Amino acid sequence: MKNGSKLFTLLFSTFSLLSNTTLYGTEKTIWLDEIDSHGYYIQDWGSPQVNRSVVGTPMSIGGREFSRGIGAHAISRMLFDLGGKAKKVQGMAGPDDTNLFATNLEFKIIGDDKELWSSGVMKRGDAAKPFNVDLSGIDKVLLLVDMCDDEFMYDHADWAEVRFITDGTDVRAIPVWPEPIHKEPYILTPKAPDTPQINNPKVYGATPGAEFIWSVMATGKRPMTYSAEGLPEGVDIDTTTGVMHGVANIKGDYKVILTVTNNLGSNSCEVTIKIGDRISLTPVMGWSSWNCWRFDASDEILRRTSDIMHEKLHDYGWSYVIVDDGWEASKRTSEGILNGNTNWPDMKALTGYIHSKGMKFGLYSSPGPTTCGNFPASYKHEYIDAQTWADWGVDYLKHDYCSHTLVEKDSSEGSIRAPYDIMRDALDLTGRDIVFCVGYGAARVWHWGPDAGGNQWRTTCDITDSWNVVQAIGNCQDVCAPSTAPGRFNDPDMMVVGEVGGGWGAQKHPTLLTPDEQYSHVSLWAILSAPLLLGCDMEKLDDFTLSLLTNREVIAVNQDPLCAPAVKKVTENGQIWYKPLADGSIALGCFNMQPYFALWNQDDGEAMQLRDYDFEIDFAELGITGSATIRDIWRNADEITGVKDRYNISVPYHGVKFIRIIPENADVSCR
Ligand code: GLA
Repeated sequence: MKNGSKLFTLLFSTFSLLSNTTLYGTEKTIWLDEIDSHGYYIQDWGSPQVNRSVVGTPMSIGGREFSRGIGAHAISRMLFDLGGKAKKVQGMAGPDDTNLFATNLEFKIIGDDKELWSSGVMKRGDAAKPFNVDLSGIDKVLLLVDMCDDEFMYDHADWAEVRFITDGTDVRAIPVWPEPIHKEPYILTPKAPDTPQINNPKVYGATPGAEFIWSVMATGKRPMTYSAEGLPEGVDIDTTTGVMHGVANIKGDYKVILTVTNNLGSNSCEVTIKIGDRISLTPVMGWSSWNCWRFDASDEILRRTSDIMHEKLHDYGWSYVIVDDGWEASKRTSEGILNGNTNWPDMKALTGYIHSKGMKFGLYSSPGPTTCGNFPASYKHEYIDAQTWADWGVDYLKHDYCSHTLVEKDSSEGSIRAPYDIMRDALDLTGRDIVFCVGYGAARVWHWGPDAGGNQWRTTCDITDSWNVVQAIGNCQDVCAPSTAPGRFNDPDMMVVGEVGGGWGAQKHPTLLTPDEQYSHVSLWAILSAPLLLGCDMEKLDDFTLSLLTNREVIAVNQDPLCAPAVKKVTENGQIWYKPLADGSIALGCFNMQPYFALWNQDDGEAMQLRDYDFEIDFAELGITGSATIRDIWRNADEITGVKDRYNISVPYHGVKFIRIIPENADVSCR
């Protein structure tokens, strides 16, 4: 090579290195970190970071640092329009070294509807995997980070040094899901009749010797009178409020007939009160302060919230009012007691207020020295804290796995579980019935949560009101669903309906989910037997949100005493989830989830992508032999009787059709 051309090559490659976008003859190099994402990239937690990991640190995979790329979080989707003109995409991918747990994730490059490259399952510490993928003839390409079966929701995932090589044309980021067509909220829930209607779950558990608090929960015109026949000795009912209170000392299954009467009629229902070893036999239904109030909740807010819950929701089963992180004083007393801060003048008076309505109170801590929000937590103070809470009358503890990694470097399952065993023991010693929620941050918790005495456990990172997040969380709950049982529930986090946002930094705002997405969200949480925890501003409950929360048949699916694990079936058009109910019927939801590949299966553009989809229910797959009635759960009405073999259902974009299939021989006497 002549000196001149050497100089040219040197100058050109220097120019190439310095330039972000490089033209090489007819070739153009477009770096991923240079593409304007227009906010279109979506992921289930945090936001994608340019040239940094998702938590803002330098990108690092298997000990090697990278200066450019995108720091994402699984599940993450980035979709690009190549106009059929791209040649290649090259780069490297791997889990970021900041991952707290072992991590199990997979990077995929999908071109139109074909998988072009997969990293295979990768774990924290693996070396970055290089790729050089041919894109000839490909119109749209998706960079996907997928979670893998057993580990999910805490995955920091890096796309490093990624660039597209094109024939000179640009690469455009485009939305993964088309914007839904605006639809006004529409109410399906029928108005409750003026005659009394009891909504209690069919089963309730308490331990002998513990304070017993439960209510007859019924809609109907006031005033009403209440009675309960067959209550365990030591428990009485207030006939004007329906609150059942006392202490039951003798173990056993008590068949209790609840009756509610007003001047228009009366309603009776049999429930079983189990005095034994287990509590929370059906999922908790309540409200937690975090998604709306962050660290600013107060005694006053909780009192107001409990008033509203009592007035509008308690008749349907909503009972728990919970303060999340931020109630704690900055220091313990000289005796080691952790009191509330100035927002919480008298915890015992507050719980007394809530209990007087027949409702319950919950609070928050962590097994490490500090909570997720940096307040003092229960490390080495488990016994004194549990006793303090029991003295206050606490009924529920959310125990997030925060800061324990500061005192325990080993991230094996046993080490993560150990402080939960201690707290369970501490709670048991108090003799109070306290629902134990193994909180956010503990890996693979559904494997050990039941043995650690958890009544529920957070399976995911924090929810926000975006369809991407809600469907990502919902989609993967089949992995942990088999752990569901009475008193043992997977918690996919609080529901994002109503006015939310204050908790995760955004200004409070009406949920960004569309009405159809909200129906999907509530239906899925119901069929999953998930704890139903609201996170909205209760003072701003609008009619639509209220209708989502007061549908007795939707709630009955959630509170079904069988607590059977829901099963997911992926179809071409979305997902079908179903679970058997105690009365022999089957609850089933067809969800038009719009899998990402659906985007490329359409010939005529966006309008097609927003269409309704048809689902076929095959009775044989559900084990139904004879004919059955199809009941529309949201409308509380039979849709059709005498159906045999199969049933077809049409579902709107991101919406759901939620039905009960009632075989001829099912006993459906009590809702
Ligand atoms: C974690 C949890 C949230 C909330 C905060 C409090 O992020 O997932 O639900 O409890 O901690 O600090």
